[in-house]
Amino acid sequence: MKTKLSILISSTLLMGGCMAQPKNENNIKSENSIGKELFISKCTMCHSATMPQNSKERDTLIAPAIFGIMNHMRMEFGSDKKAMSIFMKDYIMNPSKEKALCQQEKINKFGLMPSQKDALTPKELSDIVDYLTNM
Ligand code: HEC
Repeated sequence: MKTKLSILISSTLLMGGCMAQPKNENNIKSENSIGKELFISKCTMCHSATMPQNSKERDTLIAPAIFGIMNHMRMEFGSDKKAMSIFMKDYIMNPSKEKALCQQEKINKFGLMPSQKDALTPKELSDIVDYLTNM
């Protein structure tokens, strides 16, 4: 997993290089350490932070792994991180079957995500979504 992550990070850095704003990349990273901590404490009890390695691990999941979710988000929103953030912030507080971008079979399997309204302050929500959309 570590290697996969570092490939992801280095390819993100390479793409960042094309836009010639390495300073911004650093800012995003340092801010994101708060988002990362919050994500781990508030979301990973349901959303595994790592991809399941085998069917046994897959069977113990109670929600889709976050990498799968973020792949879906990127398929839907492409590089429009603003639209992605708006969708995610809304969904996390007010999930519904109609809004879900997850495949229907995932919802049938895991059930709808419970609203995190009582678990997050607006600032925490914002930090987590920032971290995930820039992951
Ligand atoms: C109690 C378990 C639980 C917690 C806690 C939880 N989720 Fe979820 N989440 C789910 C389940 C189950 C689904 C799949 C069904 C669905 O999409 O509603 C899901 C789906 C999602 C989706 C995809 C929505 C879509 O388009 O279908 C996103 C994004 C998401 N979660 C983000 C988060 C974030 C970020 C946190 C932490 C703040 C979080 N979730 C906390 C259970 C949880």
